[in-house]
Amino acid sequence: MSELRFLTAGESHGPALVGIIEGIPSGLALDAQLLLGQARRRKRGFGRGNRQNIETDEVRIVAGVRRGVTIGSPIALILENKDHVRWAEIMRVEPPADDTPPGRQVHVPRPGHADRIGGIKYGHDDLRDVLERASARETAMRVALGTVARALLGELGVTIASRVVRIGGAVDATPWRDVSPETIDESPVRALDPAATQAMVAEIEAAKAAGDSLGGVFEVVAHGVPVALGSYVQWDRRLEGEVARTFMALNAIKGVEIGLGFGAAAVRGSQAHDEYEPGDGVRTRYRSNRAGGIEGGMTTGQPVVVRAAMKPIATLMQPLDSVDLRTGEATKAHIERSDTCAVPAAAVIGESLLALALASAVLEKFGGDSIAELRERVQAWERTVRAR
Ligand SMILES: Cc1cc2nc3c(=O)[nH]c(=O)nc-3n(C[C@H](O)[C@H](O)[C@H](O)COP(=O)(O)O)c2cc1C
Repeated sequence: MSELRFLTAGESHGPALVGIIEGIPSGLALDAQLLLGQARRRKRGFGRGNRQNIETDEVRIVAGVRRGVTIGSPIALILENKDHVRWAEIMRVEPPADDTPPGRQVHVPRPGHADRIGGIKYGHDDLRDVLERASARETAMRVALGTVARALLGELGVTIASRVVRIGGAVDATPWRDVSPETIDESPVRALDPAATQAMVAEIEAAKAAGDSLGGVFEVVAHGVPVALGSYVQWDRRLEGEVARTFMALNAIKGVEIGLGFGAAAVRGSQAHDEYEPGDGVRTRYRSNRAGGIEGGMTTGQPVVVRAAMKPIATLMQPLDSVDLRTGEATKAHIERSDTCAVPAAAVIGESLLALALASAVLEKFGGDSIAELRERVQAWERTVRAR
């Protein structure tokens, strides 16, 4: 889907992250405070490294917005890296003043990171040229861009929330209740159940004490999504494909489920599908939401429910075995400042990713160059849907 296009640029310790998003209609209220609010949520979460305390994550809007409102042109964002001042010489953009090699070079790739293959691919001897971009610092900009998409969806009554359902062996099996996203934000691991919060925090503490790392599973849910976004008519118009791609493209994500997901493979059809029944004011309604809000490549109007599995962080303080690429000798992997567990942060990022995928699907179905035009079209569609 290309209705909403976005790109990011920037290295982890470079001067800044930069993002451009194109396709947002005019007339959408947008200010830096809104972007800052979501950025702060991404920084939270038990198990992060101390980089989060250094960065303020204040995003500057430099194009596409005038006097607090989008004007239909591409929106450009800049997020300065506060930590850059300490890396200014190592990460300088200008040619070096003399032949002194930069400090903090990396020659021992971390298993599970992009270091080794990235170095081979781009011909880098100093693997810092790889890890600076492969680092998840970039996701701060994806959150900012996703916040723009989320603001657009908000105009149509779509809301998005996330929770963590697993960290290592600790699981939160509590069903979604009518909790506000702010309540979930209060848990340091984004769990619904206080006992699960404790168990997850304990897992992270134990992994940290052992110099190890942890992954987990998070869930993102969108409510109020218009019916029939996406399509069954062509493979690349099936919405679950776009949603899965967007989530799989997040660093360290190794699996994505929609609705029952892999669980659907283990049950009979009578336990896997969502039966229809006559409803009040609508001709048919669903009895359940096992499909996770997408049927036949199209949204059903039920909540869209996505789960993603994140692998453990690749940088271990008790490093894994590796090879020094200069000498060819066995040694321990490079240690870079790192998170122990970033699943709660990934859940917040997931909200932005779902916003980007859904906003793109909304614009594909309804078009509209201004928010007023888009809103009118969505309202007309909702009237049509109610009658069918
Ligand atoms: C929010 C977030 C924070 C992350 N923090 C770290 C980190 O501190 N250290 C690390 O080695 N990997 C971290 N990662 C994972 C790496 O970015 C990722 O493993 C790496 O880019 C290699 O890609 P792959 O795991 O998808 O193969 C983080 C990922 C996310 C989503």
